[in-house]
Amino acid sequence: MKTYLVTGGAGFIGSNFIMYMLKKYQDIKIINFDKLTYAGNLENLKEIQQDERYIFIQGDTCDKKLVEDVFQKYEINFVVNFAAETHVDRSITCPEVFAETNVIGTLNLLNCAKESWQTRDGFKDGVKFLHVSTDEVYGSLGNSGYFIETTPLDPRSPYSASKASSDLMVKAFNDTYNMPINITRCSNNYGPYQFPEKLIPLLINNCIKHKSLPVYGDGLNIRDWLYVEDHCKAIDLVIKKGKAGEIYNIGGHNEKTNIDIVKTVIKYLNENFDSNINESLISYVKDRKGHDRRYAIDPAKIKKELGWYPETCFEDGIKKTIKWYLDNEQWIDTITAGEYKNYYEKMYENKIQNKSI
Ligand code: NAD
Ligand code: TYD
Repeated sequence: MKTYLVTGGAGFIGSNFIMYMLKKYQDIKIINFDKLTYAGNLENLKEIQQDERYIFIQGDTCDKKLVEDVFQKYEINFVVNFAAETHVDRSITCPEVFAETNVIGTLNLLNCAKESWQTRDGFKDGVKFLHVSTDEVYGSLGNSGYFIETTPLDPRSPYSASKASSDLMVKAFNDTYNMPINITRCSNNYGPYQFPEKLIPLLINNCIKHKSLPVYGDGLNIRDWLYVEDHCKAIDLVIKKGKAGEIYNIGGHNEKTNIDIVKTVIKYLNENFDSNINESLISYVKDRKGHDRRYAIDPAKIKKELGWYPETCFEDGIKKTIKWYLDNEQWIDTITAGEYKNYYEKMYENKIQNKSI
């Protein structure tokens, strides 16, 4: 039985990953280690909270003693490091916490994994540290070209700078100690359980509530969207078959301008939910500072070497996602309640009043 230490497993992708893995494999154990920041929510995992193959530990990846205890108590085979501060807009207003969690937290995990896995002549068999990263570390593209694994890092926001720093620390543990690692760099994900500060769930939530839809700048920035389950499938493959030390880019060749996404969400909801939802809700607001223009992944390496391919096309994925949010309206209200509500509302009001982020 293999044991996975999944950090940040109560967030968007981490919770989808845990559900995906427990459905796919009978003979695994998953320890979900999560600080439960505003972005972490155990509601996401309520279906499996009684599953005896699943253990939850509330903790901070920066907490050395606690992470050491986890490695001592459990025989960990794989670390899957999702834990991060992830929202670019928040990184612009408060970069410090991004350095703490994304860089120091990752370094602490690397150190504890190394201590636990190192043998006299190297590392235990069958262990691996998989670090989940992002295409944003490569910076911003012009109208043409794609990010490949050897594209130079050129992060431009505090979020992407902190992710690039953690990637380099993970790489250094491979180069220096020969620690078995992989780094995955995925494009923008969408799907169930994404916190509604991110574009797609924000649009759905605001449409349902007839609130205006803030579109930054000219709305022509491009992101490359992937359904979250396809990302989970790629991570599973990289853990199993990825060559130690390698980086894998993950993306489904699905580039869309932001305004295309906005109009797609409006059209679906107009036709299937409420005919009062229409393009009059769109509100062009002040652009994000340093807003990256275009991201686009070339996934040729993971396709060729590991046989990965995306299963869900955007047309199906976006319908499934919108339907999920309609069926789980209460989920959004629960997770945006309480302490976070004030911050969230202030952020929204600032956007709509064209104050800069
Ligand atoms: P998220 O913000 O939804 O979840 C982050 C999780 O990490 C939360 O559960 C939070 O409580 C936890 N966390 C934060 N700080 C912690 C700490 N110090 N210790 C322990 N847990 C902590 O993020 P997400 O969208 O699920 O992203 C997961 C990972 O995937 C991140 O590393 C992100 O950089 C990467 N990624 C995300 C996307 C995307 O489109 N969302 C795309 C590519 C890569
Ligand atoms: P986001 O979901 O924050 O992801 P990222 O910035 O990490 O790619 O944003 C996706 C795109 O949507 C990005 O170009 C910024 C834009 N955007 C808006 O236009 N309005 C919004 O309210 C938000 C949150 C994002």
